[in-house]
Amino acid sequence: MSKKTIIENTRDFVKNKLAGEGSGHDWWHIVRVTVSALVIAKKEKADLFVVELAALLHDIADHKFYNGDDTVGPKVAREWLEGQGTDPVITDHVINIISNMSFSKNIGKKVVFTSKELQVVQDADRLDAIGAIGIARVFAYGGHKGREIFNPTIKPLKYKTAEEYKKNDNPTVNHFYEKLLLLKDLMNTKAGKQIAQKRHKYMEQYLKQFFAEWEGKA
Ligand code: NI
Repeated sequence: MSKKTIIENTRDFVKNKLAGEGSGHDWWHIVRVTVSALVIAKKEKADLFVVELAALLHDIADHKFYNGDDTVGPKVAREWLEGQGTDPVITDHVINIISNMSFSKNIGKKVVFTSKELQVVQDADRLDAIGAIGIARVFAYGGHKGREIFNPTIKPLKYKTAEEYKKNDNPTVNHFYEKLLLLKDLMNTKAGKQIAQKRHKYMEQYLKQFFAEWEGKA
């Protein structure tokens, strides 16, 4: 099959799998990540075919919804790409990207695989977790997990292992300090860093207003 057909088929496959998902990892998250990834990939001169496939497939079976089993996504993606007759070198690269790009995977661990294309897709995924959309997504996900929006008696934590991070059930506002505000310093690419700076500032303003309102001062 041509690259164009594989991309189109993959888009339909992922759309059908994720449509209507309500926790912030829905089809439109995939669309936003794919658009941002291609913008960054062009600036970084990365392989657009690998980047687009990895962006489309990166949340195909998110570990958060499979009781922490993060081998499901790469397996589903591999079967899909092989079924499309994708060049095995491309398939391996895409699977390596989606197996190694998540935030929780990288806590307290050495990076085992990286490539320019991984860095691009990881940046695009991280960008969707910050700024105005990041704020919307973090509260949607907190609601999905039944978390409080904020509780002044529970302080943010610093996680040392992926397991600790997965287990946490802290109020959603803590998640800004535990993850979202850390992301701008984890960006890989120049283009990603520039966009992250702007979105980071926006979140800081948001939190300032949030706490002012919490104390009846705004
Ligand atoms: Ni994602």
